[in-house]
Amino acid sequence: MPRTPLVAGNWKMHKTVSEALQLVEVLLPRLEAVSGVESLLCPPSTALMPLSAILDKSRIALGAQNLFWESEGAFTGELSASMVAEFCQYVIIGHSERRQIFGETNDEVNRKILAAIAVGLMPVLCVGESLAENEAGRAAEIITGQLQAALKDVALSGGGQLVIAYEPIWAIGTGKAATPEDIDTLLRNVVRPTLAGLFGEQLSQEVRVLYGGSVNPGNAADFFGQPEIDGALVGGASLVAEDFVAITQAASG
Ligand code: PGA
Repeated sequence: MPRTPLVAGNWKMHKTVSEALQLVEVLLPRLEAVSGVESLLCPPSTALMPLSAILDKSRIALGAQNLFWESEGAFTGELSASMVAEFCQYVIIGHSERRQIFGETNDEVNRKILAAIAVGLMPVLCVGESLAENEAGRAAEIITGQLQAALKDVALSGGGQLVIAYEPIWAIGTGKAATPEDIDTLLRNVVRPTLAGLFGEQLSQEVRVLYGGSVNPGNAADFFGQPEIDGALVGGASLVAEDFVAITQAASG
């Protein structure tokens, strides 16, 4: 079953609303012109409402970078899944920066995934090992553990409800991308079988699995040429219109 490639831009804590509007003005017509690929923009929360008004009738999807699992209440500074779902189709959950800087645990990531799916948001679940774990030969064990913990008690009615982003931490923002062949092998031997164990073989084949970590216009085609890599979660290069468009074009084949 062919999986439509997804190229997602994680803007992180970049762009005021006016800067976001400027970037989208350039991106919108150019991304719309690329066929066979789904594009997803994940700006800071302040830009979600204005961008949703612009992207509403377009083929470009909008995503948040985080949410909180409670539905409402005294949780200063947080956004619930339904607040995010007012503007977005997707939400990034469990990014390594949230895990490392904000101490997010696998259990918290699981609660966020459950909250997202409950309101019909599609989570982009990030998993990945650190450099030390990679060098100790523990990548498979870490990734399997993260997937099983994050997806505990998750029930899917279709594989399209979930996206996985495999992002080795040592490749994020470092310019040091993993090799496409190694990523493909890891997705085939570790990520896909773990998903099959959780959701069954058929659903595991429908879930899109992205690679993330120093993807740029120069290396994107090599990643997208691998059968198990269904797209990319792009950080730095998603802030530059030319680069994000070029990466999206590479995913269209
Ligand atoms: P990068 O970030 O492309 O800047 O390495 C990827 C990410 O953190 O999602």
